[in-house]
Amino acid sequence: MTDLLAARPGSGPRDASVRPDDSTSLVLVAHRGPVRFSKSKDDGRWISHRNAGGLVTALEGIVQEVEQSVRWICAPASDEDRVVARAQPWTRFSLDATGSGTTGSSTSASCRVRMLDIERAAHDDFYNVIANPLLWFVQHELYEQAPPQIGERERRAWHDGYVEVNHCFAAALRDPATVPVGSTVMVHDYHFYLVPGMLRPTRPDLFIQHFTHIPWPRPEAWRVLPAPMRNAIFRGLLGSDIVGFHTAGHVDNFLHGCEDLLGLPVDYDEGAIEFDGRRVVARHYPISINTDALENFAAAPEVAERARELQANRSQRIVLRVDRADPSKNIVRGFEAFAHMLRRHPELRGSVTFLALLQSTRRDVPEYVDYMRAIHDIVDAVNAEFSTAAWRPIDLRLVDDLALAVAAYKTFDVLLVNSVADGMNLVVKEALVVNETGGAVVLSKRAGASDELGSVVVTVDPYDVPEQAEAMYEALSMPEATRRDRLAIAADIVRSNNMQKWLRHQLSDIGIAREPLAT
Ligand code: ADP
Ligand code: G6P
Repeated sequence: MTDLLAARPGSGPRDASVRPDDSTSLVLVAHRGPVRFSKSKDDGRWISHRNAGGLVTALEGIVQEVEQSVRWICAPASDEDRVVARAQPWTRFSLDATGSGTTGSSTSASCRVRMLDIERAAHDDFYNVIANPLLWFVQHELYEQAPPQIGERERRAWHDGYVEVNHCFAAALRDPATVPVGSTVMVHDYHFYLVPGMLRPTRPDLFIQHFTHIPWPRPEAWRVLPAPMRNAIFRGLLGSDIVGFHTAGHVDNFLHGCEDLLGLPVDYDEGAIEFDGRRVVARHYPISINTDALENFAAAPEVAERARELQANRSQRIVLRVDRADPSKNIVRGFEAFAHMLRRHPELRGSVTFLALLQSTRRDVPEYVDYMRAIHDIVDAVNAEFSTAAWRPIDLRLVDDLALAVAAYKTFDVLLVNSVADGMNLVVKEALVVNETGGAVVLSKRAGASDELGSVVVTVDPYDVPEQAEAMYEALSMPEATRRDRLAIAADIVRSNNMQKWLRHQLSDIGIAREPLAT
């Protein structure tokens, strides 16, 4: 376990009139909390469920790793969450050794969770108009054919939704009862670009780090947004002390954006920007997984049970994908590539099944509804073209089932991760650590993970369907010894660049950055 305070030699306040108190905390700010709530139909009790996405996986890792008090400030994910938020401002949340969350139990890794009671209409504009269809699409460069339409609706949603929700979070964080004096505040992801800039003027005692978990594109990609929006995004982020990304390329794009779009002085050697009389540094910290916790979970009975179910129905070989049903994951092109492979290599028909475990996501965003329809259409078309009485080429399962995903990781032959763009991609790291059968990986060159793993996996360009088809074929045809050797090397890379290293690296930079302030 890492003691955050020990890693911060100079954790004193910046303003001598503000005294640190004993309850100095690490405060995580992320739109998604670790859990969402529903009411049991049987006895009306509240039940908690683990929330989706790589960010939750990563922040759970921080909670497990840090010894001191961790607070997690988040938004409600549903009306049931709003009820809980109103009744109980803080909930204690514990993680067992597997990384699965429970509320109220007494294990050593726990944090206090506060869901802010955000007004529903503002949240809707924030999440369904700005954060997901707009910022997510801009940053994953999903507007390759047609730029977004920024009309009155988007402008209004920017002010009434995105700015408003960022204000609500900044206002809550200003309160020392929520964020103790002298705390380190880690603000996560594209939902809260404005929070650092809003928080800094009133809480100079805080150390603010912002971390973007999705790609940061080159300056030109940002030009699809109106100048006031993109300037507010950059300026908001520059309210931080440290701005974090997953890859060196994303840092570079950010620095160029500060220079090209805002005209700020940038020191590329130091990765620093002069802003408002301060020096803000941009760093890359490649995120990873808690490999020990995952390996423990992989040995759990529920995973063994799912593995037995999979084994009972599996065809000779499995191509696997495990993803949220998100356009950035490039799911449709992945199925097209699989069909292409079956056309070019008919000998594979009947013996290879594409198992797709997809988690539904962002169901109120029209682009996601359309994408889900496109997924069903391509699956129907491929299955209609190739199915036989004994074999269906694509086995699509819409599931939110980590135990099943881990069971499938253990025995896939090929894992397909062909994201159009991805901040890091944790699925590939999870699968490499858990696989027991010499599985091969086909990985997009535009996933952050390819910086670390590109030399030991088969890499592809995400738009090139025939190349992906050939890459899957190559992976399926690789001699077993080669596959096992490559897997062992790749798994070692993930084990040594694990989540603990990701965290230590950041804490060390935070400590160094705070040091000159100690008096
Ligand atoms: P993103 O953060 O964009 O969703 P990542 O690959 O970084 O993508 O992280 C996805 C996380 O969600 C991983 O921890 C993965 O195990 C989990 N996950 C993805 N699909 C499913 C699924 N169908 N069921 C359960 N967990 C899933
Ligand atoms: C990605 C984003 C996270 C987000 C997650 C799930 O991992 O980087 O910020 O939480 O997707 O998406 P959702 O919209 O359900 O929170």
